[in-house]
Amino acid sequence: MKAKLSLVLMLGLLMAIGSYALAEELPVYSPSSLAQYDGLDDSPAYIAIDGYVYDVSSVFADGTHAGFEAGKEWTEAMEESGHGTAPLTDLEPVGVFVALELTLEELAQFTGRDDNRAYVAVEGLIYDVTDSARWRGGMHNSYRAGRDLTEEIMNASPHGVRVLGNVPLVGVLLPEEEE
Ligand code: HEM
Ligand code: HEM
Repeated sequence: MKAKLSLVLMLGLLMAIGSYALAEELPVYSPSSLAQYDGLDDSPAYIAIDGYVYDVSSVFADGTHAGFEAGKEWTEAMEESGHGTAPLTDLEPVGVFVALELTLEELAQFTGRDDNRAYVAVEGLIYDVTDSARWRGGMHNSYRAGRDLTEEIMNASPHGVRVLGNVPLVGVLLPEEEE
């Protein structure tokens, strides 16, 4: 009886932290990487709905369905369609979707100062540390937000990347343009 109760409690806890675990295990897509999955030329057809990416190859024949192209975010359009988001309940997401894409230069303004939010980049992903008690005013153990801190979190911090599960993933860092 007791064992059964703790199993139920454990399952509840797992479900509560589910979105973070999922965000870490699934590949992350943003508009430019999602666009490659347009369902044309043998590529699968992916769409993004409400933060997740789905493989809709069987429905988006030749890359479109009811006039909507694959490789894009269609949250509102799908909610407003006759069937709503119901068709997705049978599908497992193949990825996580974030709309924000920033270059290193653009990231530099998100320092947590002057009403800007505080963003940090690690391994190509951008995290929002604005609401973290450990990052008051965009500062954390002498590190200022607005930068790529991959090297520092790996080599100088005592915790490594595991703490990133505690802060929201909000975007991807765009590679610098080759001259
Ligand atoms: C797994 C994904 C999807 C499945 C399985 C699916 C399935 C279907 C089916 C079976 C129909 C015809 C019957 C009906 O109206 O219920 C339909 C129609 C439609 N779907 Fe989807 N759909 C999917 C995704 C989407 C998305 C992402 C959008 C919007 C961006 C969308 C918009 C529409 C619209 C507007 C129609 C009416 C079509 C018309 O009469 O022109 N669907 N869908
Ligand atoms: C000398 C360097 C650093 C020290 C001593 C340090 C120390 C700490 C400590 C003690 C915590 C509390 C939670 C825990 O350990 O699990 C923490 C949390 C965190 N740290 Fe660091 N850290 C350092 C560098 C960095 C760097 C370079 C980053 C880059 C992104 C970073 C990102 C974070 C994040 C995101 C959290 C979680 C915040 C939250 O839970 O709200 N840390 N750090």
